[in-house]
Amino acid sequence: MPADRGASVDFYFDGRLVTGRPGQSVAIALWDAGIRTLRHSPIDGAPRGMFCVIGVCQECVVMIDGVRTPSCATLVQPGLRILPVPDPPTGPGH
Ligand code: FES
Repeated sequence: MPADRGASVDFYFDGRLVTGRPGQSVAIALWDAGIRTLRHSPIDGAPRGMFCVIGVCQECVVMIDGVRTPSCATLVQPGLRILPVPDPPTGPGH
């Protein structure tokens, strides 16, 4: 049975409603919604996003149910609530 390309899957990223398609990864759905920055580097604070898109590099990790999860290897699900990985502490002593 072919996939219903007209169906949509609503979920949330950092409180923002995002609409994906069934069978689409979270990373691609976010990309389609114009969301490119998924977290920031703990080294220099630079924005980070998709790189390998095969679940290996971990550049695209987000928080799903409190767990760091590669968004390129996770399918969208209705009502999913996703948060960016918290920014690392900055400033003197960090
Ligand atoms: S982009 Fe490399 S693990 Fe997702």
